[in-house]
Amino acid sequence: MTEFPRCDRSPTWAALQTHFQQAGRTFDVRQAFATEPDRFASWSVQAPEVFADLSKNRIDARALELLLALASDVKLEAQREALFNGDPINATEGRAVLHTALRAPAGLAPFSHEVQAALDHMLVFADAVRDHATSGITDVVHIGIGGSDLGPAMVVQALQSYVPAGLTLHFVSNVDGHDLAPVLRDLDPATTQFVIASKTFTTQETLANARAAKAWFLQQGGTDVARHFAATTSNAKAAAEFGIDTTFGFWDWVGGRYSLWSVIGLPIAIAVGSANFRALLAGAHAMDQHFRTAPHARNLPVLLGLLDVWYRNFHGFTSRSVAPYHQGLRRLPAYLQQLEMESNGKGVDREGLPLSYGTSPVVWGEAGTNGQHAYFQMLHQGTDVIPVEFIAVKSPNYGDHVGGALLDNLKDQHVKLLANCLAQSQALMQGKTAQAARTESAPTASKELDPDVLARHRSFPGNRPSTTLVLDALTPSALGALIALYEHRVFVSGAVWNINSFDQWGVELGKALCNGLLPRMSSGDVDGLDGSTAGLLAKLRA
Ligand code: F6P
Repeated sequence: MTEFPRCDRSPTWAALQTHFQQAGRTFDVRQAFATEPDRFASWSVQAPEVFADLSKNRIDARALELLLALASDVKLEAQREALFNGDPINATEGRAVLHTALRAPAGLAPFSHEVQAALDHMLVFADAVRDHATSGITDVVHIGIGGSDLGPAMVVQALQSYVPAGLTLHFVSNVDGHDLAPVLRDLDPATTQFVIASKTFTTQETLANARAAKAWFLQQGGTDVARHFAATTSNAKAAAEFGIDTTFGFWDWVGGRYSLWSVIGLPIAIAVGSANFRALLAGAHAMDQHFRTAPHARNLPVLLGLLDVWYRNFHGFTSRSVAPYHQGLRRLPAYLQQLEMESNGKGVDREGLPLSYGTSPVVWGEAGTNGQHAYFQMLHQGTDVIPVEFIAVKSPNYGDHVGGALLDNLKDQHVKLLANCLAQSQALMQGKTAQAARTESAPTASKELDPDVLARHRSFPGNRPSTTLVLDALTPSALGALIALYEHRVFVSGAVWNINSFDQWGVELGKALCNGLLPRMSSGDVDGLDGSTAGLLAKLRA
């Protein structure tokens, strides 16, 4: 495979460090708005389905110029082409990374014939299950974990208004039976479709839940396992050995956390129907095209990925908070945690050499406005600067059942939601001086306290950076574009960092140790274990 240079060996890296020391460290967004009347226009980008305002970030034109030069030093364009062309860029597993091929129109990407055939096959099945009149199905229980759960679960929740009345999708992932048990409580095996999703079909949690679900199905008098259990997997043999014959397959060049576009998207297709699933793919493809063809200076995934590098490696920010102001996107932060932290949480470069710079930030968040009443205190006044990413959706869609007075109320609530979103990014940037706080009345504040002390408690530093992404509506195509935007942004920072964003060896050690502990949980044998593990094992068994 072509070798790509390390970012920290490029002279541009040193120039960025110098620029940060000279201008970046003290950069004030408020000042920037005062001196750049067109800052909003020059720092915003309209990508397919997603508008982004980057103007409230701690970045100036020189930093961007250097970051773009860094992208060119590390041969970002060539790295991107290697991705789209299907080069084996996941070198530690000898695999191509071709999730973009899953959403390309027929004939436009590698493996097109296989992809279209698998898609058509899956969509016919999905529409048949969705058609209650013929299938009799009212509930779909999807069992999978990680990339075989987070994407489908997040998307189905986001597109809830597209799910027909009378159809409920359930997602079970945790090996903890408290996940599966409440789901099964009110289900009837005759009207339930199970989908077992596992790329490898070896994952402990998924197989355990699948086994339990099948036992429940048979115990409740369920018949026709072949009809009621389907598997989405790249290991059809293991699924068959498990006793599932209805299998939808995919390929090793689809990474788990990039797999919702493949047959792993089956629950999405059942929930929203084949036409909407195709619209999801089309939205993602539009973002792929933008990523592949837009000049870097106007290329949204490139700009966001470079901003991530600027914040992580020069400002030293270690985390980023995601605040979707849409209840349907409440699982987006969890989805992004896997996408970004499993992809870029790496400590060695492609040669296996230790890195001298930070990689994936901690990604976390919660839907707005809920987060405001929990951790936003820290974002506004805490000692750490945490860039925030707001996601606003202009028009709501509550589903056909909402009308009349309820709709009027909910529309009014939507205006409040958007105003809250705007107010938070405004407050983070604007801050409040102690002097301003001193002049305001604060009815709930103590009358005993020195007003100057109180004013210091009530002041905000401001200059806290944020990005706002805006969608016109949370449609399948807009959501597809948004997810693809995040995928490519993670690719860009990973490409600059010279890491393999597509393996996940870091999850293996815990899995292996768990397998070693399982027999000890029954036998109580603690021989050779460290003191803490031995003590805890004994306590949990007692
Ligand atoms: O947690 C590691 C991981 O391999 C993820 O990358 C993957 O998405 C998840 O487990 C589930 O794997 P599978 O689809 O093979 O069950």
